[in-house]
Amino acid sequence: MLPMFEFNLSTDPRGRIFLDPVAFADMDHWHEVARELRNDAPILRVEAEGYEAFTALTRHAEVFEVSRRSDIWHNTQRSMLMPDWLWMFILSLGIDPKTLIHMDGVEHRDHRQVANDWFKPAAVRHRQADIEAIADQFVQRMVDLDGECDFAQDLAVPFTLRVIMTIFGVPEQDEALMLRLTQGIFGAADPEYLGDMSDPSALGTSAIREFGEYFGRISADRRNNPTNDLATVIANGAIDGCPLNEHAELWYYIIVATAGHDTTSYGLSGGVEALLRDPEQRDALAADPSLAANAAEEMIRWTAPVRHFLRYAQEDTSLAGQEFAKGDRVLLSYPSANRDESVFANSMTFDIRRQDVGELISFGVGAHYCLGSQFARREIRTLLPKMFDRITDLELAGSAEWAHAPFVGGVKHLPVRYRVT
Ligand code: HEM
Repeated sequence: MLPMFEFNLSTDPRGRIFLDPVAFADMDHWHEVARELRNDAPILRVEAEGYEAFTALTRHAEVFEVSRRSDIWHNTQRSMLMPDWLWMFILSLGIDPKTLIHMDGVEHRDHRQVANDWFKPAAVRHRQADIEAIADQFVQRMVDLDGECDFAQDLAVPFTLRVIMTIFGVPEQDEALMLRLTQGIFGAADPEYLGDMSDPSALGTSAIREFGEYFGRISADRRNNPTNDLATVIANGAIDGCPLNEHAELWYYIIVATAGHDTTSYGLSGGVEALLRDPEQRDALAADPSLAANAAEEMIRWTAPVRHFLRYAQEDTSLAGQEFAKGDRVLLSYPSANRDESVFANSMTFDIRRQDVGELISFGVGAHYCLGSQFARREIRTLLPKMFDRITDLELAGSAEWAHAPFVGGVKHLPVRYRVT
């Protein structure tokens, strides 16, 4: 049996909030600790047994600066935090992660270019009719559920999954498989997604294998029968005239499927949770659909579903007056930076009318800026007015539950009740 997650810190114990999946199950507490850190230890050295040391950056300014300087600060293949044993285990299985978030420099630029046009604002605008049709289906599902549901599992998860699968060109009947696989890769620390496997690492690795098999078949098909979907773009992608190899292709599919789904669903479910904690804002949004675009931005700021990325110094450098040696690594804490009181007025208050929401950093900054941000925004702002068109008196019917996930996470269960109009 492989070791499970353990946390023995030799530095400030508050560093635990970045490591421990369970810390992400209570985000009110998490944000209290992060606020303290922003004020008294914004550049926090974290040393924990079993983890290579890192420095956690909790303020907006440093998260922004490091992201922007992708010449000095590289993602590398270890851009996600994990215990050293897990990384060694992944390598021992012959798994060699290589997505956009594991690449730097020219290699990253060239690979990003393969799908870049697909995600440009003008291209995404053409998908608005698809997003609306899918939003209608899921609002209808909510109507059919007749007054009570788990907003996260009945609506946010399947709605965002269907959008991404439609873009991909994956048929509806394979959505359940895709859901299991994406949760297997990114939700692997959460006990709820372990199913009958007792080892989270085994779940993640078997998900990667199954992904490969599934998309291998899709790719072969799209090379013979090209359509206008994203699978066709990836299957026929080329760099300097050379087709992407099988490995690069697989990881392209994985990054879009995983990055494009859980993130947006957590933004939506956590955003609605915050909205329902404040009936005045809920009623204002229900009454005025023109607030939806700003509300969607605020939901994405508030939830920051991507909890971190790591960056590695490529040379000796300094940041906020501190010296970093070549090879040092820093953790960019998006949830904390999004609550930075020096950037956002009343940063700890959810406010759908927020004027400074444009400063949100949930999608990162610079060369790795989220490729799918246009989709995420559109999905949320399209669904909200449609939902309030058909239902009223939406309220919490129990406690929200957060995923135990230190990389991508948020509200995984949200019991609500409502009236159908
Ligand atoms: C609320 C929803 C989302 C959030 C919060 C989010 C957040 C992020 C963040 C923080 C990054 C890394 C940025 C950086 O390093 O500077 C990223 C990268 C990425 N995201 Fe998203 N994302 C979301 C939705 C999506 C969607 C819907 C898609 C696809 C349809 C997507 C695809 C990607 C891809 C492919 C990358 C890698 C880009 C690169 O490294 O060049 N994301 N996202």
